[in-house]
Parts: sequence; structure tokens; C-alpha cells
Amino acid sequence: MQEYLNKIDKDRLPEHIAVIMDGNGRWAKAHGKPRVFGHKNGVKSVREISEAAAELGVGYLTLYAFSTENWSRPALEVSALMGLLVETIRSEVSTLNKNNIRLKAIGDLSKLPKRSQNALLEGIAQTDKNTGMTLILALNYSSRWEITTTIKKIAEESKDGLIDPSDVDEAFISRRLATAEFPDPELLIRTSGEQRISNYLLWQIAYSELYFTDVFWPDFRKVHLYKALVNYQGRERRFGKTSEQL
Ligand code: IPE
Ligand code: IPE
Ligand code: MG
Repeated sequence: MQEYLNKIDKDRLPEHIAVIMDGNGRWAKAHGKPRVFGHKNGVKSVREISEAAAELGVGYLTLYAFSTENWSRPALEVSALMGLLVETIRSEVSTLNKNNIRLKAIGDLSKLPKRSQNALLEGIAQTDKNTGMTLILALNYSSRWEITTTIKKIAEESKDGLIDPSDVDEAFISRRLATAEFPDPELLIRTSGEQRISNYLLWQIAYSELYFTDVFWPDFRKVHLYKALVNYQGRERRFGKTSEQL
């Protein structure tokens, strides 16, 4: 682990890392356990990766915890996930405060069970003064929901005569997304071997580096994050230019 940590250039860290935490169910199956066992163990990875990212000095970490599509799962799994969310937030607030981490959330939170909403809002309020890393949970989130909501907002503003078509540029749109306060992620990590985006941050990852690993989320540890960062730092981000221009 130290070997990878030593290779990380602290001056070239991504300011924002986004993660698609995937593979809890397959991890549980491989251990002969029900899917929920995988989700419970996934919480340990959340704790470890949040701490590792904060220690390194990453500014923002966004974790995909529940997509709008995940409502299609068996009702028992959905309610277990919602219960786990409440438990986890309540039990982790003190650790978040210890690590100076500020909790935030993106997604259609109004559709979450009241108990989950309350736990989330409490967690956000109780960590609001922290000045270190911002940990953003994507909950009942999907990118198309976000973009649709944003366009609706813009249409309302336009109807009310508050804006003019000439006002609309990329920054204007970014300011109206759920992620308005956060920079775009430079790095997107997806675990479990799947190589797709699953409706996550489509606008924001326009120029992100994508990193896929076969490791299931409950097995994802600090060393795996360090490996991803070393890999990221070995890439040349050209943004349309030639190598010579950089
Ligand atoms: C990710 O693991 C957690 C959530 C989507 C909530 P999965 O539950 O998707 O695990 P797999 O992909 O079925 O293995
Ligand atoms: C994406 O994982 C959503 C989260 C990690 C919360 P899924 O497991 O739901 O994605 P698909 O269905 O395999 O694309
Ligand atoms: Mg999955």
C-alpha cells in the first residue's frame, strides 16, 4: 500500500473524485450470503475511502448510493438500503466531524422515505461547519432526472421573463444543476468490472478520466484508491490539444 501511496503526487490530486460503488450483490453471492450482507459491508468501504480521500486532501468525493432506477429492485432490498442509510448517517456523523468532512446530497430527496430524509438533513446540518472534504451522496439520483429538472427550471425562469436566450451558456447550465456548488470530477471510478455510466453525472463527466476496476465495492480499500490515483496521474489530459501543446 505504501508503495502506491509514495507514488501519488499530492500536488496533482483530482479535486473531485466520483465513484460508482458497484458489486455489493455479487460480493455477497460469492460469500454465500444475501445481497443485503453486501450492502452492509459496502458501508465499510464508504468509511475507508472517505477517510483516505480526506487524508490525501481531495476536495470532493461523490458516491453513487442509490439511483432512480434502483427503485425497481425487490422491495425488501430497497427498504434495507434505506434503513442502512439512516443507520449509517446516524452512526458516522461523529467520524465525519472528527475528519472535518462536510456531508451533502444530490438527487430527488423528496421521494426518499421520511426517516431517510430526516437522517440525511440532520447529518448535513451537523457537519455543515466542517471545512475539509465535501462528501456528496447521490441518492435517488440520475443524470437525466437532474438535466430534466434543470431544463424545467430554465423554462420557468424564461416564462417569468427573468432570463434571455443569450444568457444561456455552459456555466449558466452548470449553476442550475444539482452539483452547482461542486467542481466537475476529474476522475470517475467504477468498481465490479462493469463498464458503463448508469445515468451518473453525464454533464459533469464530459472530460473526466474513467477508471474501471474488477474489485467489488465491499473489497475496495485504501490501496485500491491509491492505485486508481497513480493510474490517473499517469494519464495525459489533453482537452482536445496535442501532446506538444501541453
Ligand atoms: C451497488 O451494488 C450498490 C447499489 C446499487 C445500491 P449492487 O447492489 O448493484 O451489486 P451488484 O451489481 O448486484 O453486484
Ligand atoms: C449504479 O449501480 C447505481 C449505484 C451504484 C447506486 P447499478 O448496479 O444499479 O447499475 P446497473 O443497473 O448495473 O447499470
Ligand atoms: Mg450493480
